[in-house]
Amino acid sequence: MDHVTHNRRALLRFLAASPLAAALPWERAMAATAADALDVFDLEAAARAVVPPAHWGYLQSGVDGDATLRANQAAFGHWGLKPRRFVDVSHIDYSTEVLGAKMASPVMISPIGGLRSLHLEADIGVARAARVKNQQHMVSTQMSDVLEDIAAARGAPLWFQLYTTNRIEVTRQLVQRAQRAGCTVVAVTVDLPAGRNTVTAARLRREDTRQCSNCHLVDAAGNQRPNTAAKTMFAGINTEGLGLTSPSLTWDFIKQLKDMTTMKVVIKGIEAREDAELAVEHGADGVMVSNHGGRAMESGRGTLESLPDVVAGVAGRIPVLFDGGVRRGTDVFKALALGARAVGIGRPYAWGLGAYGQAGVERVLDILNLELRLAMVGAGARTVKEISAASLVKA
Ligand SMILES: Cc1cc2nc3c(=O)[nH]c(=O)nc-3n(C[C@H](O)[C@H](O)[C@H](O)COP(=O)(O)O)c2cc1C
Repeated sequence: MDHVTHNRRALLRFLAASPLAAALPWERAMAATAADALDVFDLEAAARAVVPPAHWGYLQSGVDGDATLRANQAAFGHWGLKPRRFVDVSHIDYSTEVLGAKMASPVMISPIGGLRSLHLEADIGVARAARVKNQQHMVSTQMSDVLEDIAAARGAPLWFQLYTTNRIEVTRQLVQRAQRAGCTVVAVTVDLPAGRNTVTAARLRREDTRQCSNCHLVDAAGNQRPNTAAKTMFAGINTEGLGLTSPSLTWDFIKQLKDMTTMKVVIKGIEAREDAELAVEHGADGVMVSNHGGRAMESGRGTLESLPDVVAGVAGRIPVLFDGGVRRGTDVFKALALGARAVGIGRPYAWGLGAYGQAGVERVLDILNLELRLAMVGAGARTVKEISAASLVKA
């Protein structure tokens, strides 16, 4: 264990034992170890205690007034689950297979860039946890560790999240490297074509007294600028004038992408029925309903509200993946019942990582899988295939 991890654990133990923790409501007492966390919010509290303010702001922020971020979570409360009785639930199997990948459960690791800002174990810690629990792991173009090392730590094919960039030859280099590293799916993120307004992140940066220019590019006015050259995926690539996204891209890009690779192409960030239909027409192998965790457009609409529309547009032709606001196994169940085939988590595993590294990520996966299993027991759904909209009631 490195000394930073050691100090962080010592700090968490200290906080858990302090009178401050005793003042917390019993249901949110500080978890001194990953195993003490009873739900993902215990890990959120533990991560908050040790992650510096600017990095915490980066993780927690939505855009504008964070309405979409809140809507993502709130949308799950609009559905209740219908309990069923006298079903033989002595054996529950939540394993599944999506786009050729076998998963211990439909809970999937969604891509988060810059994980080193939360914990030194970063992407490798997440990959090791995904390996132990056998969950699908999608890595960000903005990963902190080196793709090939993450792939080795995961020990099974990763999925690669692609930012398109504004230079097609660079995009091709990224995609080909991902394919060489054994990735079987490339998920192109399309929800951020031209900037965003992360107000909460900017506010929390002001509270951080550390010297940001030690690690980030900072302009004369003190604003951070993207430092693509420092990102591991861009090693050896000329990043002069390179943008991570391109505002001028249109649906033709999907064909270009398909021509570049034999990986399956998923479009991450579909929220409208029309776009779901176009995605199928343009040859996508899958779509992912996502609004970047409420960090792209301030639509005020939770992804769970968009899911039925997208499922209708796809009409069973390709798998629909989902993320946004998932904090409970019952949330996973509801997304599956509305037609998702796999359900991604973002912030919850980042909280686990920030607090306890790999052990924290493993704990998050265990908690969500336990809660999912119990939701399946209560609803009388013994396999993922048996989860259906018949279990849902408008709350
Ligand atoms: C700090 C942070 C960084 C993210 N980085 C990326 C990224 O690099 N690429 C991407 O496609 N999505 C990124 N996302 C979005 C996630 O993949 C995912 O869609 C979202 O976090 C799901 O919502 P949740 O955090 O409520 O679970 C990021 C999200 C967060 C919170």
